[in-house]
Amino acid sequence: MVKIPKIVWNPVYSVHVEALDEQHRKLFDIVNRMIDLFESDAGSYLPVIEELVEYLTVHFHLEHIIMMKIGYPRLAEHNREHQKFTEKIAAFLKGHEAEDPELGFNMVLFLKEWVRDHTTMLDVQYGDYLLRHADSRAQLSDLVGAPMKPL
Ligand SMILES: [Fe+2]
Ligand SMILES: [Fe+2]
Repeated sequence: MVKIPKIVWNPVYSVHVEALDEQHRKLFDIVNRMIDLFESDAGSYLPVIEELVEYLTVHFHLEHIIMMKIGYPRLAEHNREHQKFTEKIAAFLKGHEAEDPELGFNMVLFLKEWVRDHTTMLDVQYGDYLLRHADSRAQLSDLVGAPMKPL
């Protein structure tokens, strides 16, 4: 079987809020575990899908609050991406119930690309916005502590 390369979080993907970077690292871990599961064919995807859904609910919520607090101008667009992702996961859950034989492969590839691309291309944009707007950064201190220093 072809080996699927893992995704590796890198400090250049930082969004300058430690709590969110921590969540992104954890999301990368969950996706990598899904890759392991697919490659080893060693069990049900359901617990990992459920963990992902639970974790992303918390993560999307925190991002939403932070984007709102800092007045991020692309909030609606960003939320639409989260929404589309949530719908895709619901479709995977249906695929799981229907015992779709292609589910593992399709899901692993989609999740890997989505989590990597969304985090490293879209999430970093609100991180950049935060860096460029000192007043926005100050809004966060009561919520997630002092903003991180830029690299
Ligand atoms: Fe994110
Ligand atoms: Fe996001």
